[in-house]
Amino acid sequence: MVPILSGCQSTYYSTGVVEPNGISVLKSEFTYLKKDQPVQRQYLIVRNDALKFPIYLYRFSDTEYSALLMECTHQGNELQASGDHLHCSAHGSEFNNRGVLAQGPAEKNLRTFNVRAEGEKIIIDLTA
Ligand code: FES
Repeated sequence: MVPILSGCQSTYYSTGVVEPNGISVLKSEFTYLKKDQPVQRQYLIVRNDALKFPIYLYRFSDTEYSALLMECTHQGNELQASGDHLHCSAHGSEFNNRGVLAQGPAEKNLRTFNVRAEGEKIIIDLTA
């Protein structure tokens, strides 16, 4: 069996697929090949015209993910992903991979969405 490694990678963007109550991506989008070995991405970014801001989708395990709206809670700037945290270039706020505020001037956590893994899909529920 081939080991699944984790490692550094450039940011991967998915358009996702619009579902009745949300948007989905394939679990396989988290995997890429490095020297013929499958490697798991830590996160990917879902960008779709149906979304006002992109969604940062972080993978904790095959069954556990977090989905965060990349809108800064300070003044609404779009956040940038940097590994396992999100950074705002406007005034320096930072958030962790569960959307919890790590550094101001923002005062609130990020908007999060429920996520569930279903077969080969990861479904982000946009109704909550
Ligand atoms: S808009 Fe993000 S820190 Fe001000």
